[in-house]
Amino acid sequence: MLIANALLLVVGGVAQVYAATTTTSGLVAQFSPIFPSTLPKATGVVTSYNPGPYDITTKLSADALKGYPPTWESPPTSSAEVKKVYDMIDWSKVPKAPVRKQDSNGNWVSDSDGDSDPYCWWSSTNCVKPKAKYLPADIHTCPASGDWGLNYDDGPFNRYDASEDDAELENKYAEPALYNFLAETNNQKASLFYIGSNVVNYPAAAKRGLNDGHHLCVHTWSHPAMTTQTNAQIVAELYWTLKAIKEATGDTSKCWRPPQGDVDDRVRAIAYQMGLRTILWDEDTNDWDMPAPGGGELSPKVVDGYFKKWVSNYESGKDEKGHIVLEHELNSATVNMSMFWLPKLQETFNVIPALACNGISQPYWETSFKYPLSNSPGSPTTTATSSKTTTTTAATPTTTTCTSGSYGLGNGDGYNGACCKDQSDCWDDCIGGKCNGPNSTKSATATKTTTNTLLTSTTCASGSYGLGNGNGYNDACCKDQSDCWDDCIGGKCNGPVNTKTPSKKSITETTTKKPSTTANCIPGTRGKKKGNGKTGYCCSSSDDCLETCRSGKCGL
Ligand SMILES: *[C@@H]1O[C@H](CO)[C@@H](O)[C@H](O)[C@H]1NC(C)=O
Ligand SMILES: *[C@@H]1O[C@H](CO)[C@@H](O)[C@H](O)[C@H]1NC(C)=O
Ligand SMILES: [Zn+2]
Repeated sequence: MLIANALLLVVGGVAQVYAATTTTSGLVAQFSPIFPSTLPKATGVVTSYNPGPYDITTKLSADALKGYPPTWESPPTSSAEVKKVYDMIDWSKVPKAPVRKQDSNGNWVSDSDGDSDPYCWWSSTNCVKPKAKYLPADIHTCPASGDWGLNYDDGPFNRYDASEDDAELENKYAEPALYNFLAETNNQKASLFYIGSNVVNYPAAAKRGLNDGHHLCVHTWSHPAMTTQTNAQIVAELYWTLKAIKEATGDTSKCWRPPQGDVDDRVRAIAYQMGLRTILWDEDTNDWDMPAPGGGELSPKVVDGYFKKWVSNYESGKDEKGHIVLEHELNSATVNMSMFWLPKLQETFNVIPALACNGISQPYWETSFKYPLSNSPGSPTTTATSSKTTTTTAATPTTTTCTSGSYGLGNGDGYNGACCKDQSDCWDDCIGGKCNGPNSTKSATATKTTTNTLLTSTTCASGSYGLGNGNGYNDACCKDQSDCWDDCIGGKCNGPVNTKTPSKKSITETTTKKPSTTANCIPGTRGKKKGNGKTGYCCSSSDDCLETCRSGKCGL
């Protein structure tokens, strides 16, 4: 990419920056942050893509990197290093979207910018095509049907101190367990989105990630919802993570993923100028919500159900494109789930890193690294103790019959846990005849009747739930309706359109108020895993969640 209008002059050790405007491609110019010349050179790492064989020893150094801000806290914006990067940004090419606010439960104080969505705010509309013309679209899917874009967030999964609760179980899955498993399972590669705090505390795992042939991308320093951060805070979150990855591995990433997917054009523009392309996903395992430290209460069976659905969708020829399916190396439950499914996915899909399925072979400024775009058969590993974990067979789906034509929330004969594909007996998808998520319930606390009008626009009549009953019918859809067989993304069906002819009719919608979650916390107990939110609950004033606390529950 040719930079047309950017000049960087270094005179007598003082960097004078003439703001970059746009490149010949029409995109805003990017720069690599300049790290201090005193930054130690990375040791123990490869300097170009390593096709193998790989080291699968299980002991890694626990030494941390030094000279970084406190981990798991919003890093200061006042350091000279951060300011230098800040001054390199062309602020005329950063849209003035508001710094967004969340209430004490983590809910957005305003969850929409209105229909026009001027800043392409993903958390509001799942928007992935920036409104600012000088920004590229987010990468969020694999274009080719049959491609499974493998990726893991929140790593590298740090080991627990032996004295900590859960240490024994969690350490079986902490790194290098997953990386070894990938190496031993057909030499599998993935795109990894690293939290700077985790890199600083466990750089040896980041080195292993690089040496094993994975792509390393940025996932912020302290894992906040990025649209809630000021411009300077965004720079600091990205800069310290870039620096930690550079010091540990020698590489400067050109890819990043916002925690919770929370990004808008303001955040994108800062990240992009700092060299970082935004990478999202189009399918979500929700694996982070399974019971384990930092997780929630989602049954692993539900996550199993998602994987089964993706496999069966593909096998039945329903997939028109591939997918980037969000997974985490967060705790024993997420890593275990991934270990269980990977061999099965490899039998069905072309499992390749999320960046590779999008044709990205050079994810760093250091161009000595060139990754393959397809799987290459390899002789993966050197000999060492295997850390392979045995898994048991997943539950078989239950088949249920349904009364044809009995549509409508809670009206089908699948009511009470079971469901049918073309009914709405569950609040969420029906997977294998079972509700994926809460059952529809008739002992509801609030009932309202709404009249539904047949429209073909992307607007939706609020409250007009029910498969095929929403006005998003005809390819368009609304977020809280069931006009599509699959998710509704940006007003369009992500997958086949519901073909049932919509009828103009009055439907009764029953809503259940969520039980009020007691999000009590020990005031002042900040720090990962230290608060009493440990079992999935959290509070806004403690750091029990790796992601934002929403309504007392840990967010993504
Ligand atoms: C790993 O997965 C298997 C199979 O689903 C399950 O039986 C086991 O309890 C899981 N272990 C952990 C630590 O999550
Ligand atoms: C739904 O109801 C069935 C039958 O009562 C029960 O077995 C199942 O656990 C329920 N599922 C959820 C997610 O509440
Ligand atoms: Zn994350």
